[in-house]
Amino acid sequence: MREEILNFLKENSGYISGEELAQKLGLSRQAFWKHIQDLRGLGYEISAVPHLGYRLIKIPDRLYPWELAYRLNTKFVAKKTLYYKNVASTMDIAWELAKKGFPEGTLVCAESQRRGRGRLGRVWLSPYLKGLYFSIILRPKISPFKIGLISLLSSIGIVEGIKRDFDLPLSIKWPNDILAKERKLAGILMELDAEQDRINFVIVGIGLNVNTSKKEIPPEATSLYLLLNKRIDRVKVFKNILEEIERTYLSFQEEGENFIISNWRRLSYLYGGRVKVILPNREIVEGRVLDIDQDGALLLRKDEGIVERILSGDVEKIV
Ligand code: BTN
Repeated sequence: MREEILNFLKENSGYISGEELAQKLGLSRQAFWKHIQDLRGLGYEISAVPHLGYRLIKIPDRLYPWELAYRLNTKFVAKKTLYYKNVASTMDIAWELAKKGFPEGTLVCAESQRRGRGRLGRVWLSPYLKGLYFSIILRPKISPFKIGLISLLSSIGIVEGIKRDFDLPLSIKWPNDILAKERKLAGILMELDAEQDRINFVIVGIGLNVNTSKKEIPPEATSLYLLLNKRIDRVKVFKNILEEIERTYLSFQEEGENFIISNWRRLSYLYGGRVKVILPNREIVEGRVLDIDQDGALLLRKDEGIVERILSGDVEKIV
C-alpha cells in the first residue's frame, strides 16, 4: 500500500487530494495519514497543504527495494530484492539464499558493509550510503570452466550502465576491475557453487564507488563523485547497471561467447598491451595481451613467442 501511495505521488508533480487518494486506495483517512507518516519516517519529504493535498518533495538517498523496482525494466534481475542498512558482506547473505533455492536474479544490497571483501582476500571498503554494494544470484547453464565469462559480462554491464548517463572513459581490466583514468572505480567478486560439470549457482558481488570521497577509498581508487565533481543519484545508476547486466547476460545466452569477446575487446584496458601478471602461485609472467579465449582466459604472448593461457592473477600494464 505504501508503495502505491508513493507511486501516485511520483506520477503527479502537483498536489493530490488526500481524500481522493485514500478513497481510490480504499483506505480510511487515518490509515492514509499513517502511511504518509511512515513514508516521512523513511526519509521522504512530503508536503501537506490544507485544501490542496499532498505533494512529494524529495526522495531520500536510499536503495530501498521499491525505489529500485520503480519502472525497472528487467525480466528476472532484482525481481526479488533484499535490502540491508548494514551487513558483514552481501556475499554471505546471497550465498545462504542461493543454497535455499532463491531464484536467479535475486539481489542483495546494503548501504554499508562491515567486512566487504574483494578478490584474493582483499578488503572492499564500504562506507555508509556512499557506494553500491550488492550481490546477484545467477544460475548459468554453462560449464564451471567458463565461469570467467560471467565476471566479464558483468563488467560489460557495469560499464554500459554507467555510460547511459555519464560520458566517462571507462575500461575493463581483466579479470574483474572497472577503471576510469587508470583508477579503480568498481570491482567484481564471484563465488561459485559447482560440481564437476555444472554450476549450481554463482554469486556475483559488485562494489562501485559512487559518492565516495578521496579519504574513504584506497589511493589507487576513484569514485563517480570524484570523476564528475558532483553528487550522483545512486538509485538511477544502480537501475541502469541492473538492466545492462541482465541485457548482457541474455545476449550471452543467445549469441554465445563471441558476444563477450567482442565487447571485451572494445572496452578492454589491456587488449594489445604489454603486461606483467602475478599468478596465484606468485610466479610472474610478462608478455603482450593477444585476446581472451572462449572460456574468458587471458591469452598472453610471452617474449619467447609462446602463448600462455592465464586463468587467474593480478595484471599490471607495463610500458
Ligand atoms: C574486487 O575488486 O576484488 C572485488 C570487490 C567486490 C566488492 C563487492 S561489494 C558487494 C559484495 N560484497 C562483498 O563483500 N564483496 C562484493
